[in-house]
Amino acid sequence: MTLCAMYLKICFVLVKIFLVQVVASPSASGHYKRIRSVSVPVSDGSCGDITLNLYVSPRLNRSISDVLEIAWTVDRVLTGDWIGLFDYNPNLTSTTDLTDYLHSVPVNWTTGAVFTGVQIKRNLSTSRPYEPGCLGYWAVYVRGDTGEAALVTCLSTEPRWMENSWNEISQLSLAEAFLPGTHNSAAFKEVYSPYYENIVHKYTYNQDLNIHDQLVFGARVLDLRIGHYSNTDQKWWSNHDFIRLRPFKEVLDDVKRFLDNTKEIVILDIHNFPVGFKVNSAETHRDFVRYLEEEVGDRVLPATHGWGASLASLLATGRRLVVAYNSQNASAPFLWYPIWHRWGNKQDVSSLQRYFSDVFSGHNAAPWSAMMELTPRPLDVLLDTYGGLREMAAESNVQVNKWLQGSWGRSCNIVSVDFIRGTSVVKSAIKWNRIRAGHPGCVNHTRT
Ligand SMILES: *[C@@H]1O[C@H](CO)[C@@H](O)[C@H](O)[C@H]1NC(C)=O
Ligand SMILES: *[C@@H]1O[C@H](CO)[C@@H](O)[C@H](O)[C@H]1NC(C)=O
Ligand SMILES: *[C@@H]1O[C@H](CO)[C@@H](O)[C@H](O)[C@H]1NC(C)=O
Ligand SMILES: *[C@@H]1O[C@H](CO)[C@@H](O)[C@H](O)[C@H]1NC(C)=O
Ligand SMILES: *[C@@H]1O[C@H](CO)[C@@H](O)[C@H](O)[C@H]1NC(C)=O
Ligand SMILES: *[C@@H]1O[C@H](CO)[C@@H](O)[C@H](O)[C@H]1NC(C)=O
Repeated sequence: MTLCAMYLKICFVLVKIFLVQVVASPSASGHYKRIRSVSVPVSDGSCGDITLNLYVSPRLNRSISDVLEIAWTVDRVLTGDWIGLFDYNPNLTSTTDLTDYLHSVPVNWTTGAVFTGVQIKRNLSTSRPYEPGCLGYWAVYVRGDTGEAALVTCLSTEPRWMENSWNEISQLSLAEAFLPGTHNSAAFKEVYSPYYENIVHKYTYNQDLNIHDQLVFGARVLDLRIGHYSNTDQKWWSNHDFIRLRPFKEVLDDVKRFLDNTKEIVILDIHNFPVGFKVNSAETHRDFVRYLEEEVGDRVLPATHGWGASLASLLATGRRLVVAYNSQNASAPFLWYPIWHRWGNKQDVSSLQRYFSDVFSGHNAAPWSAMMELTPRPLDVLLDTYGGLREMAAESNVQVNKWLQGSWGRSCNIVSVDFIRGTSVVKSAIKWNRIRAGHPGCVNHTRT
């Protein structure tokens, strides 16, 4: 056995030992405050010469979690420019309200990102999940010369972004659209308060929202890996590689709840079958496909529509669920072609950027997914080289956000990210889909 394979083995065993503890650990609860209601225009954060992102950092430790981060890019910095974080929406035109900020950052460079230390007090699942809205925090770019707000953006959910852009984007096909997604979607742990992450937590979870809330946040593609455990009550599970996470039924129930409350299109990218599909493969796939049909058969779109069909023609069928299935050992009229994953297996941001430079300069046949996350090697996991997936995502997402707001947003198809709350992938998708369909990308909403 090579050294590498040996570490891999030890690592797997360690992870298995801790699994029970991980899954059984109670989810923490926080304190949530009521949000003041306001109704003032808020932009998508990328209008004109300023780009402003407000998002929730994946970083956490024993004393802090759910911290807001602000990132900006500006063509020209003026003396005295600053960015403020507010828990109300200061008027776009009034300077009087700009003093009562939670955090402020002087802008001295054309691009940057700052960890504000301000913890959000909000549980996405609580109030009115299907109404798009600001979640109680606004970032404002203030120009030094006038002292006025040049751009206001907010931390928001996007449960209806397709529906809200429908008039503009309905002629795009799934192959032509920018579809935001989550990587390893079922590998989530909801944490709304500071907490100690052991080594297993650090490398098991790629998301911090449950499936339903990922969709509410704006993800439309879920990357799913299935385990088959014939000796358990629930035969079908969501896995992270060989780690069994939660019954697959929970994933489907969340998806159904979201579909039943919105008019959005959702894609399940059933991508890997890491456990229990090797023996009697054809038969096991047949069983699983039959199970899928029982659960979502009345909602799935027939594969005959294909990735080239317009969103409008898909919606006209009254069905809004696409199931892409990555195995030749299964066939059914509702299983769509597999999604081609462009995965670099990179451990640092500049390697990831080089990898995607190559990808984007070549030809990519849709449906394809840009897997925009860093990946630790087994030895890195064992030695905790990078401090965990949260740390890795915190590093890479700042750049991923810029790449997607920039030219890669013009030509990507699906994009899968880690810790989607820490990205602006949804806002970029909204912007670029409008542009791809021939409309201005910059949108100002009025939101409460
Ligand atoms: C968030 O709120 C929902 C609905 O009130 C509740 O079921 C859930 O447990 C809460 N989540 C956390 C992590 O507190
Ligand atoms: C937690 O993270 C914050 C912000 O990075 C840091 O200031 C603090 O020292 C950390 N606390 C612990 C216990 O590691
Ligand atoms: C705040 O903005 C709203 C909408 O633009 C406007 O109607 C209102 O007069 C403004 N209030 C102040 C105090 O400027
Ligand atoms: C910008 O200001 C911060 C402190 O506010 C400082 O740490 C940083 O080095 C400055 N950057 C540049 C490019 O001047
Ligand atoms: C398909 O099934 C055969 C026979 O059970 C198996 O040998 C093969 O590995 C399977 N292929 C895939 C892609 O699962
Ligand atoms: C949105 O607001 C920004 C900043 O005020 C402005 O530059 C932009 O033109 C507006 N966009 C639209 C589509 O109205």
